[in-house]
Amino acid sequence: MAESKALLSIDGKEIADLPILKGTAGNDVIDIRTLGSHGYFTYDPGFLATASCESSITFIDGDKGILQHRGYPIDSLAKEADYLEVCYILLNGDAPTKDQYDEFKVIITNHTMVHEKLAHFFHGFLPDAHPMAMLCGVVGALSSFYHSDLDINDPAQRKRCAHRLIAKMPTIAAMAYKYSVGQPFVYPRNDLSYAENFLHMMFSVPAEEYKVSPIIANAMDRIFTLHADHEQNASTSTVRLAGSSGANPYACVAAGVASLWGPAHGGANEACLTMLEEIGSLDRVDEFVAKAKDKNDPFRLMGFGHRVYKNFDPRATVMRETCHDVLKELGISDPLLDVAMALEKVALEDPYFIEKKLYPNVDFYSGIILKAIGIPSSMFTVIFAMSRTVGWVSHWDEMLSQAGQKIGRPRQKYTGEINREFVSLSKR
Ligand code: CMC
Repeated sequence: MAESKALLSIDGKEIADLPILKGTAGNDVIDIRTLGSHGYFTYDPGFLATASCESSITFIDGDKGILQHRGYPIDSLAKEADYLEVCYILLNGDAPTKDQYDEFKVIITNHTMVHEKLAHFFHGFLPDAHPMAMLCGVVGALSSFYHSDLDINDPAQRKRCAHRLIAKMPTIAAMAYKYSVGQPFVYPRNDLSYAENFLHMMFSVPAEEYKVSPIIANAMDRIFTLHADHEQNASTSTVRLAGSSGANPYACVAAGVASLWGPAHGGANEACLTMLEEIGSLDRVDEFVAKAKDKNDPFRLMGFGHRVYKNFDPRATVMRETCHDVLKELGISDPLLDVAMALEKVALEDPYFIEKKLYPNVDFYSGIILKAIGIPSSMFTVIFAMSRTVGWVSHWDEMLSQAGQKIGRPRQKYTGEINREFVSLSKR
């Protein structure tokens, strides 16, 4: 079949024939790699229409509300698989056999402990440091433990690195929490599942073992799965860009943690809870909805809207179900959760939100679930980072395995001064 081409003409003059490339699904892409030689760059701040790479990990169709990892729909993964199975799929490409799954579980379980020296890093933080600040610093510090003999061009070593990160993130995340509340660090337990072990490290104390509720462990596992990967989002693109220079992967993942922290990305779940607290009671919901709609007010409803999903977020659909189940099963009554449910209802019915296609996103519901199960809001984004680690390392591994991999180096439209004469300070 003849390759389609896009003809670029400027002021009626033909400049270039640009090949149009097809993926297995999703939008075709115009290959503009030769455009620089014609004296032009493309301009797309915010990457609204730019495919930055080729990837076979995750497919999203935002208009149809489709999200698939390696071809498997997210709702089946969330309902039928556990998080470690999803990690295996993202990293390796196919669903594991029972033996492969068991082996993977053993590998991850055996990497959950961190070097004792790593614990000392925490003691340099002020007790009120944000857990995301600690996570960013301590994950970056892992690079000092795994650097000199690390060969990132060896696929087996890249896999080991991925396993270590998936295994150690919950340990480091729980340590950040324990440090912030002044409790001793709790070591991981190999007899527990990934989600149970995280809850154990968060809530056990030497004086009393924490009994993990299966409802809470299942909800936590589902939160991990629904945050595991999301194609070329800001933090994943950050990890890719940092890694494209051949940098240490632990340092690259720390860069991903930093990018995730912002309220427009992973920080939205914490920002959503802060907003619910600010609203405070049911009688103030309308006032805040009006603020969100006011063009002259920068306030936005946190946990609403998405760059890619313009009909619904398929992760939010599953998370919403889980959220309502958890609230019902735990029989929790909390005025903030009532505010959240009222906000959901108003926003789903209000013409402003309907017209602008602003639906509650995954972080609206995950924040409510995490609050209901007793996780402090400062840990919400940390939990997102833990869950997304598998996505970050899968993309990093994929990028480095691709032939002809290049350092990411965007260009710009320059708008500053040019050709100014510099006069030394003594002559001015
Ligand atoms: N509340 C009120 N108005 C909003 C909201 C909101 N949450 N989000 C977007 N809008 C309005 C915005 O003011 C703009 O209006 P207008 O066209 O009149 O100027 C219009 O909707 C389009 O907004 P945008 O900022 O151009 O859209 P975007 O695709 O660049 O931004 C977003 C997407 C997620 C950053 C944005 O919707 C937002 O800030 N939401 C709140 C933060 C949030 O929940 N983020 C988590 C995203 S899901 C987790 C993840 O994947 O990281």
